[in-house]
Amino acid sequence: MLRQNQPRSIGPILAGFVWFVAASSFSVPAQPAARADGKSLFERRCGGCHALDRDKEGPRLGGVYGRLAGSLDSFPYSDALKQSKLRWTEETLDRWLTDTEKLVPNNEMTFHVENADERSAIIAYLKQSSVR
Ligand code: HEC
Repeated sequence: MLRQNQPRSIGPILAGFVWFVAASSFSVPAQPAARADGKSLFERRCGGCHALDRDKEGPRLGGVYGRLAGSLDSFPYSDALKQSKLRWTEETLDRWLTDTEKLVPNNEMTFHVENADERSAIIAYLKQSSVR
């Protein structure tokens, strides 16, 4: 009796648990973005044009925190950015990512990040990868 009962009672619980784990990981797809992982956000939002260690469509961003805007010899910046005399800090980066055109009219980066949490996560990631 007992021997037959056990599999019957544990089976459904186990299946239910497995299903719960599987279902809960699908039912909250917004969670990682909401928690704003700077590295993956950087890769998704900026990675098409930027890398940390080499110039692409945009200049390399490793070491950008604290750098003077438009100051890499290797990258053909717009005159607007070269002449901006900005230094990249939390504040200037946040304004840049909110609206590049407002901060530096006639620059060549046609991209912005709507969400303030995403901006600060990306900036924290850039800062962290610049300090090393
Ligand atoms: C569509 C391509 C594109 C995307 C996407 C993009 N950028 Fe840029 N970015 C550029 C270009 C081009 C420049 C150079 C602008 C200029 O010279 O006026 C630039 C310049 C910059 C600079 C100034 C660097 C320096 O050396 O002064 C920073 C900082 C920057 N981008 C950050 C970001 C971040 C962070 C993201 C993602 C949230 C991002 N960019 C997304 C194209 C892009």
